[in-house]
Amino acid sequence: MKEVVVRAENLTKIFNRSIVAVDHISFNVWKGEIFGFLGPNGAGKTTTINMLITVLRPTEGIASVMGYDVVKQANEVRKIIGVVPQEYTADEDLTGYENVMLCADLYGIPRDVAKRRALELLDLVDLLDFKDKRVETYSGGMRRRLELACGLINRPRVLFLDEPTLGLDVHTRAAIWDYIKRLKEEYDMTIFMTTHYLEEADALCDRIAIIDRGKIVAMGSPGELKNSLGGDVITLALKENADATEVIKSVENVKNVKYENGVYRIKVNDGEVTAPLIIDALRKRGYTVIRFSLTKPTLNEVFLEYTGRSLRDVEESKESFIAHRITLMKARGR
Ligand SMILES: Nc1ncnc2c1ncn2[C@@H]1O[C@H](COP(=O)(O)OP(=O)(O)OP(=O)(O)O)[C@@H](O)[C@H]1O
Ligand SMILES: [Mg+2]
Repeated sequence: MKEVVVRAENLTKIFNRSIVAVDHISFNVWKGEIFGFLGPNGAGKTTTINMLITVLRPTEGIASVMGYDVVKQANEVRKIIGVVPQEYTADEDLTGYENVMLCADLYGIPRDVAKRRALELLDLVDLLDFKDKRVETYSGGMRRRLELACGLINRPRVLFLDEPTLGLDVHTRAAIWDYIKRLKEEYDMTIFMTTHYLEEADALCDRIAIIDRGKIVAMGSPGELKNSLGGDVITLALKENADATEVIKSVENVKNVKYENGVYRIKVNDGEVTAPLIIDALRKRGYTVIRFSLTKPTLNEVFLEYTGRSLRDVEESKESFIAHRITLMKARGR
C-alpha cells in the first residue's frame, strides 16, 4: 500500500480577490518519492509550496502533510518539514557553519546536537572544507548546497525544494541532483520540489505534475507522460524488398506501422523493450534489418502537447535571474 504523505484537494489561492495563482489543484505525494511541479514562470509553483509549508493560507480547498492539516495544525506541519526556498536565505557575512547553526537555533535544537548535525550535513553536501569561510565567498552551487544543509537541520520527514538549481549552470545543476538523490536515500525522505527545467524533472522526479496558469494539466511519471503522447517512434529498413508490416504488427506493444519508400515507421510503447522484440520477429522470418533508429518524446513535447507552448521559450534567462537577486539584496538592505 502506498502511504500518502502530502495531500491537496481543490487547493486554490486567489491574491487580492482577482489573481488566481493556484486554481483548484488536487494531488497526492507518496512516501519516499520525489514529486515535481514542472511549469513556467508564474505558473503557481511557489504559491503552492507556500500553502503546503503553512506560509500562505489557501483561499479554498485543503492540504495536509503526514495527515496534519496545513491550516488547523500548522505547528505540527512545521515541525516535520524541511524547506529550501527559491531565493537564497543564508547570511553572506556569516560562515557556512554559522548559517547552519543559526537554522538549528530557529528550531530550538540543543547546541550539542546541533553541532553534530551541522557537521554531518556540511559533510553530506561536501562543504566541510569550506565551513569556516564566509558565504560571501561561495559559488552559486555551494550556496545551494548550504541551503540544502539548512533545510535538513531538523531531520525532516518531508523536504520542500523550490527551484533547487535556479540560475546554476548545467554542470553544477547535475551535481545538485546527485546531492538530492543522496539525501533521499540516506534519510528516507519524501521530497516535493518545483522546477521549470525539463531535464531536472526528467532526471530527478519519480512523478511530475505539469502546472500551467495555476492548473495541473498532466500528471504521471516522466515515462508515462511521454507515453501518453502515443509512444516512441522506431524507423527501420530491411534488406529484402518485401512487405513485413504484418510481422511487425504482431509484436506486443506495437501500436501502428506505416510503410513508405522502403522505410517502416512504427509507433510503439516502451521503445527500448519493444525494439529488440521487433528485430527478433523479423529475423525469425528471414528478414535482415539494415537501418534502425529509436526516437523518444521529450518532456518538452509533453509540455507543448498539454499547454500549447514550449517550455524552453518561457525559461527564465540568466539576466532576469541576476536582476531578481539584486532586488532581493536591496530588499534586505545591502
Ligand atoms: N503575494 C502576491 N500577490 C499578488 N500576486 C502574487 C503574489 N505572489 C504571487 N503572485 C502571482 O501569482 C502567480 C503565480 O506566482 P508564483 O510565484 O506562484 O509562480 P511560480 O510558478 O513560482 O513562478 P517562478 O517560476 O517565477 O518562480 C503569478 O502571476 C504571480 O504574479
Ligand atoms: Mg517560484
